[in-house]
Amino acid sequence: MRVEWTDELSIGIGIIDDQHMKLVERVNAFVDAVECRDDRKIEETVNYLIGYTIQHFGAEELIMLRNGYDDFKKHREEHNWFIKMVYDVNKELLDKGLSQERLDQVRELLVSWIVNHIKVSDKRIGEVIR
Ligand SMILES: [Fe+2]
Repeated sequence: MRVEWTDELSIGIGIIDDQHMKLVERVNAFVDAVECRDDRKIEETVNYLIGYTIQHFGAEELIMLRNGYDDFKKHREEHNWFIKMVYDVNKELLDKGLSQERLDQVRELLVSWIVNHIKVSDKRIGEVIR
């Protein structure tokens, strides 16, 4: 299932919302690639996700740091967990490929993590520092 962008996902910080929209687009590209079992596209979207999440999390963390955000450490741990998860998926892809079952599992995980993280943790940044 694709992620649908709604106002509920907006945290009220323009630069972050723009990046989240791009992130959602890429997660959806991964969902599509898994659904049509397009191996080249799967690899491509995972690669893009690694680069883009690191860049985006960095921007978010800078905003938290500059504003003395009170829950920085926990938030950063969530980011690190996600990066590690995507890294592991990429490693598996390179080493032996992913079974359809594993791909479905990763797809569900990506979608639910992104939606929950934005709706709960990122939203709180918007509420606290705005
Ligand atoms: Fe975040």
